[in-house]
Amino acid sequence: MRLLVTGGLGFIGSNFILTMLKSYKDLSIINLDLITYAGNFENLKDVENYGDRYQFIRGDITDLNLVGEIGSMKPDVIINFAAESHVDRSILDSSQFLKTNIIGTQVLLDCCREHKIDRFVQISTDEVYGSLGPSDPPFTENNNLKPNSPYSASKASADMLARAYHKTYCMDVVITRCSNNYGPLQFPEKLIPLMITNAIQDQELPVYGDGMNVRDWIHVMDHCRAIDTVMRKGKAGEIYNIGGSCEYHNIDIVRLILNKLGKPASLIKHVMDRPGHDRRYAMNADKLADHLGWKPLIDFEEGIDETIKWYIGNEDWWRRIKTGEYLTYCEQWYGALKN
Ligand code: NAD
Ligand code: TYD
Repeated sequence: MRLLVTGGLGFIGSNFILTMLKSYKDLSIINLDLITYAGNFENLKDVENYGDRYQFIRGDITDLNLVGEIGSMKPDVIINFAAESHVDRSILDSSQFLKTNIIGTQVLLDCCREHKIDRFVQISTDEVYGSLGPSDPPFTENNNLKPNSPYSASKASADMLARAYHKTYCMDVVITRCSNNYGPLQFPEKLIPLMITNAIQDQELPVYGDGMNVRDWIHVMDHCRAIDTVMRKGKAGEIYNIGGSCEYHNIDIVRLILNKLGKPASLIKHVMDRPGHDRRYAMNADKLADHLGWKPLIDFEEGIDETIKWYIGNEDWWRRIKTGEYLTYCEQWYGALKN
């Protein structure tokens, strides 16, 4: 089997490529990635061991000609991870989100159609469903889409396009919607790696608002296993929720990290809330469990211990990232939050 993975130098894509190459000897991967601020060549330094089973192409998923050329290499499946993925950045400026997340998906879907590629897997998010109240049941695949951030609106649009291509052109499209991931190789702008790395550096831990927002956490390797399951066994035209059934208030995650690192609670700083901040996400992943036999395996406490260890052992990796563009972005973001 030959896969075209897009966005494979990012957090989830690189974990996916590493585990797939390791697990299946009969599989090869083309990785198309633009290497934006979030893409990191170092994430896949170990793939050299896999010889011609791995091919990297630097480029943009919105580039029609390039994507067409790659389509004529006849991959069996396209798995679309490539995206602008950070809500806060989408609040600062949504233009790149609409371009990559919507137009990019359209270009890939057209390529799939033109080259008769067997299957298209769209990697989506629980954020397309909007926000839950404290006692609402977790989201199912039947919930309406009610995105509240430019990021989630762009991902919801991409999901709608994927659905439309299935209905209109009878293409084999499946959509996965996952909750918040954590684990090794996550860019330190997202909650868990930001808090771990700031705590190691004895810097303030910025908690938005009252810190009582809830996220449903899943280890990235459980997510990758779910994508593999859906890619092989999912039914064309279906949507599959993926979640960890592991709800935490943000403030409790932050306290847990400080505790594990032996750092004082005085590092916590409550800052202005993110505009449009979704209060709670929770996923019902029963469909994936009942129809395809997947369930999450990694216990959160163990996963977070292993993740903290990874960030302690890979300081060079994240210290290099927390410079340059990242610092400019932080300045802009915290400047905008104050106004
Ligand atoms: P990420 O930001 O870490 O990585 C995104 C990757 O896409 C980077 O390597 C970047 O260089 C690449 N990319 C961006 N624009 C591109 C373009 N125009 N052409 C080619 N490559 C481009 O993201 P992530 O956290 O790994 O998320 C991957 C996917 O999973 C996204 O689609 C995201 O919406 C979805 N998702 C993420 C989470 C999460 O918790 N991180 C949860 C659910 C779903
Ligand atoms: P994030 O990792 O950005 O994921 P998402 O917004 O896509 O769920 O944020 C997770 C939660 O943590 C979210 O409720 C916002 C909050 N948060 C903070 O309180 N402080 C921060 O510095 C960041 C980045 C996030």
